[in-house]
Order: sequence, then structure tokens, then C-alpha cells
Amino acid sequence: MLEQIKKIKQEAENELKKISTSQELDTLRLKYLSRKGLISSLFSDLKDVVANERAIVGQKINQLKSDVESSYKELQESLKSDKETEDDVDLFLPGRQPFIGRLHPLTIVLDEIKQIFFNLGFHVEDGPEIETDYYNFEALNIPKDHPARDMQDTLYITEEILLRTHTSPVQIRVMQSQKPPISIIAPGRVYRRDTPDASHSPFFHQVEGLVVDEGISFGDLKGVITAFAHKMFGSDIKVRFRPSFFPFTEPSAEYDFNCVFCRGKGCRVCKNTGWMEISGAGMVDPNVFEAVGYDSEKYTGYAFGMGVDRIAMLKYGINDIRLFFENDLRFLNQF
Ligand code: DAH
Repeated sequence: MLEQIKKIKQEAENELKKISTSQELDTLRLKYLSRKGLISSLFSDLKDVVANERAIVGQKINQLKSDVESSYKELQESLKSDKETEDDVDLFLPGRQPFIGRLHPLTIVLDEIKQIFFNLGFHVEDGPEIETDYYNFEALNIPKDHPARDMQDTLYITEEILLRTHTSPVQIRVMQSQKPPISIIAPGRVYRRDTPDASHSPFFHQVEGLVVDEGISFGDLKGVITAFAHKMFGSDIKVRFRPSFFPFTEPSAEYDFNCVFCRGKGCRVCKNTGWMEISGAGMVDPNVFEAVGYDSEKYTGYAFGMGVDRIAMLKYGINDIRLFFENDLRFLNQF
């Protein structure tokens, strides 16, 4: 009997070493550990053992049983964890994309605007967003009772200090510190007391343009604005100027581009007019030259405004200005 126990132990150990799959392990379990397995039959044979040896032999069989059981469990565990790591690796899963930063659409459009004007001989000037009443209004020939000064439109910090409502005050700062010829653009953020909706935001972005020299005419202004429209939206886009009024230009105009969606044919976006309003422009008012000490007999100049957000909305077909400022990655990732 002891011989037989030894033989089964040896056999089980050899077989355990060769096992590499869970099927093989299961066959081994059936052979040794099941109710009709070899170890159970050893227990049934125990009754034939002489009484005084029975305890010793019983102990040996128990020992064999627990040895085989623990080896079995160990193998079972290791086969299971192998299987898990195999299952975890899905070779068909698409790789993880590294997170890539992008330029904001307004930055992309502003860079393009700057590049176009740079090629036309302009350079970039900067001015403060917190301005004085003098630069934002007074020096620009905007009288005290002008509606733009209304509390409804302007965000005042004190009676004299405010958040600039347009980039036009940079015109004054540049003319105060430089002599003609001047040919600049001044991009930047501006503020108005507006309730946000699809086309209004309490802050937005403008580009101011200013050219001053001897003999500058309205024709130069039209040429530059038209060149800009062609570069920005395509050479089939027409430009038109409509008479208008701004206190700091005389004569003043508002300028429109052909609708960039229907190219002038008329569509839902341009309400069938074929045109889209862009901004204002005109010849620098002699009163403004006066304020900065320029000789208005000698020099003439033109100025224009431009809405960066509006141009970006037209360029990308965006119908809500608020999207630019919400920083929703689902929106920003598209540029
Ligand atoms: N500052 C004006 C505005 O915010 C836009 C403008 C109009 C700018 C005419 C100009 C100009 O330089 O000549 O609505």
C-alpha cells in the first residue's frame, strides 16, 4: 500500500510538471482528485490494511491528497492570471492619441489678418485695454453727449477711466508718439455693456487701421480694404462702401463684403441681400489731427475698423460668437 501511495505521488508530480493548459489541469483533477479518482480509491483500499498500520497509511494518503490539491490550486491560479493578461492585450485597439494643443480660431484668423496687412506695408501697434475718456472719446472728436458714452454701452471704472469700447484710441496714441508717414494696424480686445447672445458678447476683438501721409485719398482706403477682402475670402468677393457717420472720420463710410456663403447671390445668412456688413472707415477728421498736433493742411489719412470675431465667424461658418469664449474642447479641437 505504501508502495502504491509513493507511485501515485511520483506520477502526479511528473504530470503536474507537464501541464500548460487548463484542460490538461482538469484531466489531472479528474484522474487524482475526483470522487472516482486514484486518491479516493486509495482511501477505499484502506479497509484492507492491517489495523495497526491503518493510521499511518491513512495519514500518508491524506498528505498525498493535500499535496496534490495545493499543487493543483497553485497551477490553476497561475494559468488563470496568464489568461487574464492575454485577454487584457487587445492588439486591435486603436492607440491612445497624445493630447495636442492648438491655436484658438481667433488667433488663427488674427494671424492671417496681420500677415495680409504686413504684406501691404502695415506694422502692428498696441494700446491699453483700460483707457481714459480722453483717448477713447474726447480726442476722437466724440462729444460728451454722444450715445457711445452712455452707461448702457461703456464699462466705466471711474468717471475718467473705462474699458475701451473700440481700438480707435490707439490711433491717437500712435499719432502722438510718431510723425507721418504712418501705416499701422492695432489689433486688440474691446468691451461693451452688452448682454451675451449669438451675436453679442461683452468683449470682442477689433483691428484698427490707420494710414497718414501727404496725399492719402479715399481711393487708397478702398484699394487696401478690397485687397484685404480678396486675400481673406477670395478674389471674387466684391466690396462696397455706404455713406455713414463716425465723429473721427469725415467723410465716413460703412463697408460691406459680398456674402462669403453665397458669394453675392443672396442666401438665408445674408437675408438675400448678397452683402455682409463688416465695419466702418473714413478719412481722418481734421479735428483728430488737431488733437494730436498734426498739420491738417499738409497731411491726410484714412482709418478703418474691423471685427475679428465677425471675420472668424464668416470664415468658419460659426453662428454663435459665444463659442469663441466658452473654451469647449469639442469646439476648439476642430481648428
Ligand atoms: N471704432 C468704430 C467702432 O467700434 C469702428 C470704426 C469706424 C473705426 C470708422 C474706424 C473708422 O477707424 O474710421 O464701431
